[in-house]
Amino acid sequence: MTENKYIFLTHGGAGSKEEYQDGTLQAAKVGLKVLKSGATLMDSVCRAVAVLEDDFRFNAGVGSHPRSDGSVQMDAAVMDGQGQFGAVAALEGFRNPIHVAHAVTRTQYKVLVDRGAAQFAKKAGFETLSADQITARGVDFSTGEEVTDTVGCVAYDGKSFAAGLSTGGIRGAAPGRVGDVPLIGCGLYAGPAGAVAATGDGEIITMHLTAIRAYQMLERGDRPEMVLEEVLHWFHPVNDAIGLILVSDDGYAAGSNRTMAWSVLEEN
Ligand code: GLY
Repeated sequence: MTENKYIFLTHGGAGSKEEYQDGTLQAAKVGLKVLKSGATLMDSVCRAVAVLEDDFRFNAGVGSHPRSDGSVQMDAAVMDGQGQFGAVAALEGFRNPIHVAHAVTRTQYKVLVDRGAAQFAKKAGFETLSADQITARGVDFSTGEEVTDTVGCVAYDGKSFAAGLSTGGIRGAAPGRVGDVPLIGCGLYAGPAGAVAATGDGEIITMHLTAIRAYQMLERGDRPEMVLEEVLHWFHPVNDAIGLILVSDDGYAAGSNRTMAWSVLEEN
């Protein structure tokens, strides 16, 4: 059983450079600060993910990779241990998809996609972002030298757990392609026993039902580092990018079969 009351764990995606840890640390700091100011755990996780969406070095929000037709379509999801879940998929034109996913948790729906997600976000007044604004923020889409993935956060407030993810998806993928992020139990899962957030190749993460199976291992009492080791073995080390952050009341673990910027903050 961990001694720490608060644990905030963030990642910048499988393939993100480890020197970008200043960005993941800043996200964890914001999440923890927001939580300590009285926000809910889900709100705090979303605020941490939004910091990563606002950092063009990561593949989410302003740093999202473009699709094969040059459009930018983003997926995001959030879940907490009380069973609240909300997601958006193929959302275009908004700065922080994670906040839109959070707003979906307050509706009768679980997932909104494409035009419907954009209409919902517009009606709710979320900040917009054009594809031009994304390139203007310094991401060189033409080089292709950096292949990064989904950003995420898992957190524990001493009583409950939450997880959030956001992504621009795979560079050059078909418009309308949706990966693991908005699919419950694939990219993320949270429950009374912990929270899990994955990053990497969305199709293979989905086919392994990665997050729910990792969560079930936490539920049966496996320590986070054991779960991480087991999950990494499900993926081909060269062909399949995978990264994972997870937390339970037994501690936390983070790792990837690629480089991955990640950070943790623990506090009593
Ligand atoms: N893991 C994010 C994606 O494949 O879309």
